[in-house]
Amino acid sequence: MLAAPAPLSRRLSVAPMMDVTDRHCRYFLRQITRRTLLYTEMVTTGALMHGNVDRHLSFHPDEGPLALQLGGSEPADLAHCARLGERYGYDEINLNVGCPSERVQRGAFGACLMAEPDLVASCVEAMQQSVGIPVTVKHRIGIDRTEDYDFMRRFVTASAAKGCKSFIVHARNAILQGLTPKENREIPPLRYELVYRLKQEFPELEIVVNGGIRTWPEIENHLAVVDGVMIGRAAENDPWLFSEADRRVFGDTAPSVSRGSVVDAMARYAEIEVRRGTPLRHVVRHMHGLYRGRPVARRWRQMLSDVTALKSNDPALLRRALEEIEQRELALNSA
Ligand SMILES: Cc1cc2nc3c(=O)[nH]c(=O)nc-3n(C[C@H](O)[C@H](O)[C@H](O)COP(=O)(O)O)c2cc1C
Repeated sequence: MLAAPAPLSRRLSVAPMMDVTDRHCRYFLRQITRRTLLYTEMVTTGALMHGNVDRHLSFHPDEGPLALQLGGSEPADLAHCARLGERYGYDEINLNVGCPSERVQRGAFGACLMAEPDLVASCVEAMQQSVGIPVTVKHRIGIDRTEDYDFMRRFVTASAAKGCKSFIVHARNAILQGLTPKENREIPPLRYELVYRLKQEFPELEIVVNGGIRTWPEIENHLAVVDGVMIGRAAENDPWLFSEADRRVFGDTAPSVSRGSVVDAMARYAEIEVRRGTPLRHVVRHMHGLYRGRPVARRWRQMLSDVTALKSNDPALLRRALEEIEQRELALNSA
């Protein structure tokens, strides 16, 4: 169990990622870093207006600080969903204006909204009037072939005029047709300089940079220029990166955790979850990258993906895997 919830800071965060940053993933990451802000997967207003609210919004009390990302473009609906988020205890509501998927475009939200700065500003205003927690916007530097900084500048200015103070910028254009969402995270070039320029021009706004950031030197270089760094895929592939976050970014002096203690905590968590009916694989799938970069990494992943062991739904799998990995590491160290 963790101590009192840490205060919200956007200096370092884990990005919203569909099918990745679910509550199990966030609980796991929270065992590694106490302070890093975690975002949910995007939850659409439709899902909250017509679906099972509790299934979409409930989370473990130890997960915070936590931001709820919403997808939508209808101010009244977003305001309603933001209120629900606040009631559930989220620390921030974030609006997704960066997702390029065609399904999302059909719903007229996501990155295509960058072309409608006034509509986004109305959404932000409606949400902000409905909640006491901060409302933030996550967006791209442009859409399709727009190359000019002024496009993003106009977009940010409109929402800032309605009181939005924090912007998270994925430093790539979103190509709305012809690229898959995955290609849209790889092909359009990263242009951090545009995000830096935004910070320079609007020093009073909080500007967080996102896209392609994977190492501590990269994180620290960005932090010298902008207010925060958001990390997506590296959090999934190399979650142990965050083991240094509390000390390096937030100046915490508490002793850092070990991988073993994280697995222990997850084993306890898995026991409770499995008893509640959660399949074990839903919990352990987020832990595959824990030993990335170490000689035991492959064996760890293998054990955690063992279909037969997962089918038996026995949380002891985690303790068995840890025991074997620790023995192997010991043997490697004394070799
Ligand atoms: C599997 C996956 C799902 C994603 N889902 C979302 C999402 O729900 N909302 C969103 O704003 N961005 C989403 N993104 C984009 C990330 O938040 C982030 O902007 C992008 O991956 C770039 O950061 P990175 O290079 O550090 O991964 C997703 C990315 C990935 C890899």
